Amino acid sequence: GHWASAFPIVEREDISAVTFSLTVRHPLMAKAARPGQFVIVMSHAEGERIPLTIADFDAAAGTITLVIQAVGKSTREMQRLCQVGTSLHGIAGPLGIPTPIEASTRSGAPPTIVCVGGGLGVAPVYPQARAWHDAGARVMGVLGFRNRNLVFWENKFRDVCDELILCTDDGSAGTQGMVTDGLRLALEAHPETSEVIAIGPPVMMRACAEVTRPHGIRTSVSLNPIMVDGTGMCGGCRVRVGGEVKFACVDGPDFDAHLVDFDDLASRLRRYGEEEADAMAQWET
Ligand code: FES
Repeated sequence: GHWASAFPIVEREDISAVTFSLTVRHPLMAKAARPGQFVIVMSHAEGERIPLTIADFDAAAGTITLVIQAVGKSTREMQRLCQVGTSLHGIAGPLGIPTPIEASTRSGAPPTIVCVGGGLGVAPVYPQARAWHDAGARVMGVLGFRNRNLVFWENKFRDVCDELILCTDDGSAGTQGMVTDGLRLALEAHPETSEVIAIGPPVMMRACAEVTRPHGIRTSVSLNPIMVDGTGMCGGCRVRVGGEVKFACVDGPDFDAHLVDFDDLASRLRRYGEEEADAMAQWET
């Protein structure tokens, strides 16, 4: 990755009272970005460095899109200051190991992939769903939100998914239930599923891993939510995976869900300091 300065915000969408998207002009990043990767953003010269998944990228338009939930100090500041016509001070990236997308299963048939997004996790799972769709896979989308007011990108997902299951906690949109319920439905309808990708709050990713574990379906989670500065320096994103110590921002953010030690992760998240808690908070609403 590299640092460069002043990236104009060309579009902003306020998805809810706390969630907003920014589309930023950055032709090099738009060309280089791959699904699963993230950038580190500084909204102004004295701003904190915030790791954010690249939720969309358009090489032809030369733009990338970030989806942000304003609940910590820095993200609330971005919500206030980042308007169309202003610029982001700095963007570093693309960072992180891209998600491997393989066009066919070992038998040669197109794979069936279930992409699960919970809340803010709906944004980072989108480029993965699109890449699988473009590679010829059958893509099932399972999106979960607390209520209908928080639903976003439903139509973008409809464009790249063969089927879409929308779940809300209170049943105000789609079916009432959690994404794990939607995931179970998708797996019942498609026992041939070769891979599940789940992105959202750590508790949700853990629950999805337990749904797929008995079926032995390869499952990947993105540990984006536990990143703090995204640089490999702070140690905030340390995680045990298959008995080894990994750093989400350097070795991930995608990991095999069945190998992630979610117990260790949960106890570490409870011990988080204020800065980490801020970074995490955006995933919990
Ligand atoms: Fe700081 Fe990974 S986020 S080391």
